[in-house]
Amino acid sequence: MQKLTIRCPDDMHLHLRDGANLKRSVADSAYRFARAIVMPNLVPPISNTAQALGYRERILSALPADLDFEPLMTLYLTETLSPDEIVVAQQSGFIHGIKLYPAGATTNAEFGVSRMERVYPVLERMEKLAMPLLVHGEVVDPEVDAFDREAVFIERELAPLMARFPGLRIVFEHITTREAVDFVRGGPAHLVATVTAHHLLLNRNALFAGGMRPHHYCLPLLKRESHRQALLEAATSGDPKFFLGTDSAPHTRHAKESACGCAGIYTAHAAIELYAEAFASANALSRLEVFASQYGADFYGLPYNSESMALEEIAVEVPSSLFFGEEALVPFRAGEQLAWRLSS
Ligand code: NCD
Ligand code: ZN
Repeated sequence: MQKLTIRCPDDMHLHLRDGANLKRSVADSAYRFARAIVMPNLVPPISNTAQALGYRERILSALPADLDFEPLMTLYLTETLSPDEIVVAQQSGFIHGIKLYPAGATTNAEFGVSRMERVYPVLERMEKLAMPLLVHGEVVDPEVDAFDREAVFIERELAPLMARFPGLRIVFEHITTREAVDFVRGGPAHLVATVTAHHLLLNRNALFAGGMRPHHYCLPLLKRESHRQALLEAATSGDPKFFLGTDSAPHTRHAKESACGCAGIYTAHAAIELYAEAFASANALSRLEVFASQYGADFYGLPYNSESMALEEIAVEVPSSLFFGEEALVPFRAGEQLAWRLSS
């Protein structure tokens, strides 16, 4: 049996939701991660500092008494966000990034940006203040094939944006393609990327294994095997530009198993275990710690966590469904096995 002890990790891209649904996701994440960059795509969106501070308090109130967890807050970049709000956000000490959703690109992205020019003044201020821009990197053009939306975004939006704001710190979130890996590698040191566990473990065949698999539907979509391999190679290479961000995104069973199902995969119940499995598959367990616990902190200018965590290679079954407020949530690997577990 393999065992592994690492410094406590951070999840640099996480959806916690709100209200009655907070308890489940906060507890699962806090059990594994010391800190997380919390996504602002609520309805209405978290689009100013006061809202983010209120949301932070609700997250902390949902935290089980025996766990420590620091939510690292973000703001949703709407077309009406003012550049001065970036100053307020930074001075608060609690806001670590501003999230760009191309309008309509994903869950609750309708409040996002439809024309990049409209947010140039905000981006200019962010560049000046070194406030990171967290990018959902997909075009929404319906003419573009759904599997090409990330690659096309790089050419149409991201590269021109970086040419206009060369000093802007950017996280290319939940990358899914070889094109994104190459672009991040070839870019400046302040262009980095998060990689999810599910994109390291699955290719797009998982969407259609024996029938339609709504619980494998997320955005950006799973891609073909050659892309999964490029992601796995990048994540396990020890390159500080690639670090952990689960994009764990819970939706109720009803919202997923529907004629028009929501995008999002819930991995928070087993996130670090799933990354361990992916890294073990590439014979790279020795590089899990830098990916999970150091490179993200380095980018965000945070101290490393002082606690450590132990994992062991023992199979455990995942329940077929979890409690999620008043509803049910189908987790990743529901009814199947995980190869790793946390050791007590
Ligand atoms: C996320 C969600 O449900 O909030 N869904 C997803 O498929 N990843 C939004 C996002 O990060 O795209
Ligand atoms: Zn996300």
